[in-house]
Amino acid sequence: METVVSGIRSTGNLHLGNYFGALRNFIKMQEENKCFFFIADYHSLTTHPDPKILHGNVKNVLTEYLAAGIDPDISTIYVQSDVPEVCELYLLLNMHAYMGELAKTVSFKEKARKQPENVNAGLLTYPTLMAADILMHNANKVPVGKDQEQHLEMTRKFARRFNNFYNVEYFKEPVAYNFGGELIKIPGLDGSGKMGKSEGNCIYLAEDAKSIEKKVKRALTDEGPKEPNSVKPECIENLFTILKVVSTDEVVKHFDEKWNTCEIRYGDLKKQLAEDIIAVTSPIRERILEIQNDDAYLHKVVTEGTARARESASKTLKEVREIMGFKNF
Ligand code: TYM
Repeated sequence: METVVSGIRSTGNLHLGNYFGALRNFIKMQEENKCFFFIADYHSLTTHPDPKILHGNVKNVLTEYLAAGIDPDISTIYVQSDVPEVCELYLLLNMHAYMGELAKTVSFKEKARKQPENVNAGLLTYPTLMAADILMHNANKVPVGKDQEQHLEMTRKFARRFNNFYNVEYFKEPVAYNFGGELIKIPGLDGSGKMGKSEGNCIYLAEDAKSIEKKVKRALTDEGPKEPNSVKPECIENLFTILKVVSTDEVVKHFDEKWNTCEIRYGDLKKQLAEDIIAVTSPIRERILEIQNDDAYLHKVVTEGTARARESASKTLKEVREIMGFKNF
């Protein structure tokens, strides 16, 4: 049995990128693995969210996690800030994390560019907090999208460094993982980059069919292929990338052939794409509507999950403290 840890920041609703990057395949792994799914609310603080909306965001992710198929009877689901052990491990790991390597992280450089007025220390040490989330359960597999690859590399580095420094074989070196395949990057519908909350180019799991159809219809396309078998421009490649995760192989093959023979009609492609996205999201949306106001259920899930997460975390922390030389009087 492997230990799997998956986290999503509570900065808004879950979108197709979150679902295909970090969730869908792992839902299938729940029975054979020890899975921890958590809501990274501490991580969301780097952008200073309004206190009035913080809790609502956490609740959204919790609801959508459950609606997407996490089974709280077999997996552990919890809110990061309910497990204070993570803060202590974060502090301890920070003593072995160096300014130079943290400042070189792609995500840090990007955020520092985007929010030059708020380059806080939490932003700099974001990878150490993420490493603490993962190492706290001594996980060996971490379902993430392509954008988190470097953070996982750093987690491995911190684990290795700890083991070497204290001359122990304590932490496992966790790998970024997507069920039997490559890490995924789901693009946005605006012709470039990844689908992301801050990019404003998302299709959300909670979105209704009409709104999805509208967004897909508006997706950027070009004037069409001029020659047979030509390379697809980025905006078209992106639509195919999404099609590949929501549709069958036959559908993808059909539109690929149409592209290659210059017979493709983007209207048809978009119609099919919207239909297949809706087929994925509508059962999730229904479940969201069912449970989002069931406060008693959400409370029960979180209470049980927190207890299990703290049990696992406090065991790790106790052992880490011993290794580092802390002793009780
Ligand atoms: P976050 O909240 O940005 O995204 C959550 C997960 O969704 C994946 N993802 C995507 N995958 C493919 N295509 C996309 N367009 C796309 N957008 C998002 C992300 O790769 C991620 O797996 N730092 C993390 C949260 C975190 C975490 C952890 C994850 C904190 N501690 C420990 C795993 C383990 C983050 O910001 O993800």
